[in-house]
Amino acid sequence: MLEQFACRRCHVSAKRGNRLAVSLDAAVSWKSAAELLQALRQPVANMPDFKLGEEQITTLLNAIYYGSQGRTTDVSVPVKIHFATSTKKNIDIFSSKCGHCHRMLSERLGSVGTGDIGPNLSGLLSVYYPKTFKNNTAWTVQNLADWLKNPRAIRPWASMQPVLLTATELNKIEAVLFVTVTAESFYHFNQLFDQH
Ligand code: HEC
Ligand code: HEC
Repeated sequence: MLEQFACRRCHVSAKRGNRLAVSLDAAVSWKSAAELLQALRQPVANMPDFKLGEEQITTLLNAIYYGSQGRTTDVSVPVKIHFATSTKKNIDIFSSKCGHCHRMLSERLGSVGTGDIGPNLSGLLSVYYPKTFKNNTAWTVQNLADWLKNPRAIRPWASMQPVLLTATELNKIEAVLFVTVTAESFYHFNQLFDQH
């Protein structure tokens, strides 16, 4: 189910995943089971509401505990701490072009966007995002460019309108969407460090 809901596009679990939100391997050590249950029943604004049933919640919670075994001291803290209210002076390009309809956690800027009309785009350009592009393929820079030009060419029933962007604007939006530090790379580099 962690795969099905793509929880790892934001969280680390069993040492795998993006580090955009808190590591679930570590969360079990500072949150009680009741608190974790509550987090799944009433997700915060930056976590999608999957409308999980109680049975699904129990299964997920078990998976989180199982995955965290021996890893509760996970130090792979989120790359960016998120605040509900932004103190950013200049509005970033994602917020201005996409943020009315989408929100996401980004490595570079923390939480951006306030919209819930479109899907939460956290981790879009990473291996952990669901493969929701054409024919169940992953989102890439090129796929995203094609989508923005004309969503209906990709998904005939898409309700998103084309968004016209200059090449520079598109590059800037991609930079917000990219994930560069996964738990895997984090542990890999730590291991190398320990060996020397
Ligand atoms: C789009 C990003 C995103 C996705 C996808 C996501 N979450 Fe979260 N989740 C968050 C954020 C943000 C928080 C609040 C804590 C934080 O800011 O890191 C959170 C909090 C939690 C917490 C409470 C942890 C704590 O210490 O407060 C649990 C448990 C949790 N998520 C489980 C899940 C599970 C299970 C899934 C998949 C079904 C999932 N999340 C999918 C963003 C996400
Ligand atoms: C006016 C609202 C609106 C704006 C502005 C908007 N989108 Fe969307 N977006 C949507 C909606 C609604 C969907 C769901 C499309 C569907 O019906 O399948 C969507 C879907 C998407 C998807 C597909 C995600 C998936 O997993 O299916 C991507 C990627 C996306 N938008 C990227 C962007 C980007 C990047 C921007 C800014 C350049 C943007 N959108 C601006 C409303 C918007």
